Amino acid sequence: MLEAVMLVGGKGTRLRPLTISVPKPMLPVAGVPVTEHQVARAKEAGVTRIVLGTSYKAEVFSDYFGDGADFGIDMRYVVEDEPLGTGGGIRNVASALDSGPDDPVIIFNGDVLTGLDITGLVQAWRDADADVALYLTRVEDPRAFGLVPTDDAGQVTAFLEKPETEAEIVTDQINAGCYVFKRSLIDAIPADRPVSVERETFPGLLEGGAKVIGYVDTGYWLDLGTPLAFVQGSKDLVKGIAPSPAVPQTGENLILNGADVDPTATVGDGTVVGAGARVEAGANVQGSVLFDDAVIGSNAQVTDSVIGRGARVADGVRLEGVVVGDGATIEAGNELLAGARVFPDVTLEATSVRFTSDKS
Ligand code: GDD
Ligand code: MG
Repeated sequence: MLEAVMLVGGKGTRLRPLTISVPKPMLPVAGVPVTEHQVARAKEAGVTRIVLGTSYKAEVFSDYFGDGADFGIDMRYVVEDEPLGTGGGIRNVASALDSGPDDPVIIFNGDVLTGLDITGLVQAWRDADADVALYLTRVEDPRAFGLVPTDDAGQVTAFLEKPETEAEIVTDQINAGCYVFKRSLIDAIPADRPVSVERETFPGLLEGGAKVIGYVDTGYWLDLGTPLAFVQGSKDLVKGIAPSPAVPQTGENLILNGADVDPTATVGDGTVVGAGARVEAGANVQGSVLFDDAVIGSNAQVTDSVIGRGARVADGVRLEGVVVGDGATIEAGNELLAGARVFPDVTLEATSVRFTSDKS
């Protein structure tokens, strides 16, 4: 038996409006929810049970995965009435774990796509006889993450979550969002109050002299927290750059069953066309995610964008780096550029208004 916890309770604020109706980990990338890719990879690594620590829109997860039988893994759910934070979320699932006090339990952040060697991480934890092993990756700009410097022996020396001063940027090694905990340390996290594993638990363990080791894996890694990253992750899965056993088929595009793509349209660079979606004559869709039942009108040009469920993009419209909410309509003549977000069910009337806004 090998148990894992998946933290999926976050609000996904940076991905609004996509996360108004669907929690971030349940947004489809390459045709299936982010969580399903993670579940498939965990199963492949020998994980036999996953407990989801849920809060925001908890029922969306259990409706989809049920008891996990269809996914070949045992799935359980624990719901936080009020979000307890990452550490509180880990503590809160303890009642659903059967592991003994000295057994390893794997914790996954629910919004990262990785090529992590999960078995290697667990083995490193065993080999070092560690309390906690942290999966680390290297990034160019670490400021949006948890910085985790290690010494020559691989022992973690500090944990600096979202550093605010230059002086704190001591490494390009970041917390990549997966840990192995000795089960008893999960039980030791305070119950029934919010706890941040990054700001409280890890620094506390280091102060108390716990053996916390870093495991650097240089394979694929992406946090899907922003619209741009979300689109990137979907593209990479479709093109086979990000590994996942849950991608139905890799290639230049992924056209799901029941989608309708006109033979004169061009659909490439890892675009996903959702079930029931339509791409009309002469349209050019590159590097984008079309949710189910979305419609792209003839000669429209859509690049690096997310088009929500049932949204309609009229003939000739140009979108680049845009998020269109579920059920919204972009009428003819519009051109929206990087960072623009259209909220669900809004209609942008026929015009030549041009938006440019932030790129967040
Ligand atoms: N159950 C539960 N309860 N889950 C939560 C809660 C909560 O209150 N808050 C956040 N989560 C989940 C989110 O759904 C997500 O899967 C995960 O915990 C991490 O939360 P994010 O909000 O995505 O954090 P982040 O991306 O800013 O930073 C975290 O991930 C980085 C790597 O992607 C930190 O762990 C950083 O240290 C790390 O570098
Ligand atoms: Mg995140």
